[in-house]
Amino acid sequence: MKVAFIGGGVMGEAMVKSLLAKGVVATADVTVSDIALQRRETLSDKYGIKVTDDNKAAVSGADVIVLAVKPQELSKVFGEIKGLLSGQLVLSIVAGASLDNLQQGLGYGRLVRAMPNMPAQIGEGVTVWTATDGVEDRQREMAKSILKAIGDEVYVDNEKYVDMATALSGSGPAYIFLVIEALVDAGVHIGLPRQLSERLVVRTVLGSARAVELTGKHPAELKNMVTSPGGTTAEGLLQLEKGGIRSLLSQAVIAAYEKAKSLGK
Ligand SMILES: NC(=O)c1ccc[n+]([C@@H]2O[C@H](COP(=O)([O-])OP(=O)(O)OC[C@H]3O[C@@H](n4cnc5c(N)ncnc54)[C@H](OP(=O)(O)O)[C@@H]3O)[C@@H](O)[C@H]2O)c1
Repeated sequence: MKVAFIGGGVMGEAMVKSLLAKGVVATADVTVSDIALQRRETLSDKYGIKVTDDNKAAVSGADVIVLAVKPQELSKVFGEIKGLLSGQLVLSIVAGASLDNLQQGLGYGRLVRAMPNMPAQIGEGVTVWTATDGVEDRQREMAKSILKAIGDEVYVDNEKYVDMATALSGSGPAYIFLVIEALVDAGVHIGLPRQLSERLVVRTVLGSARAVELTGKHPAELKNMVTSPGGTTAEGLLQLEKGGIRSLLSQAVIAAYEKAKSLGK
């Protein structure tokens, strides 16, 4: 499978790195097109892949073309590669770019729209993706194997779930980073050394997520297991409930979802 990336920034590099490390694609079969000379040099030096500043050249001969530029650069890329596509798969990770946007911009219909998230940069992301009807089964398999390289992947047959995922798993790492930061500060506030506080919080977040995943128990059941009557955890939880943590999280996700939908219009 020959893969061409249009845009070799943070996400493009993360995908290249994982694809090569996991042997999904051979070095000789990866091309990255990027307008920034420094990015081209970095990617060529680090991974030994082909690089170019010519998006048209990158597309030629590729089985899969990954669009990994910022949303505001997309229309320029459309103008460059429109008319050069026949049979290949175009896989976009551009936030907010709907299948309709892509189809109209490229005048082309074999499309996958994927929404990865930031931990993809360390191979621990989760990507929600969907495809147009024109995408063949073998191309769906290609998309799946590319996205699997950067973490977990979930196919959905309705694009609205990709917009919803943008607000939940796409923006989610920022919510969790904020919570981690706040908890570390709280630990420091009561007197823990910052490094120790950070270590405790990070392991707590990781361990709690793994406990939900591995036990299959409802989070409320796990929460009850650590909340003894009249104990310390009950006191802490009461303050979180008083502060409206549940509705606050809902409002955050709803606001991000509304924004995601408006970006796609
Ligand atoms: N980062 C994430 O965690 C994340 C998560 C989910 C989705 N995404 C999506 O992934 C896409 C890429 O994000 P990113 O964080 O990787 O952005 P980024 O680091 O800015 O990478 C984009 C790269 O594309 C280059 N570029 C700009 N215009 C180009 C053109 N016309 N042709 C070829 N290359 C061009 C940029 O060069 P210059 O810097 O010189 O402009 C830059 O090196 C975005 O659409 C974003 O919504 C990112």
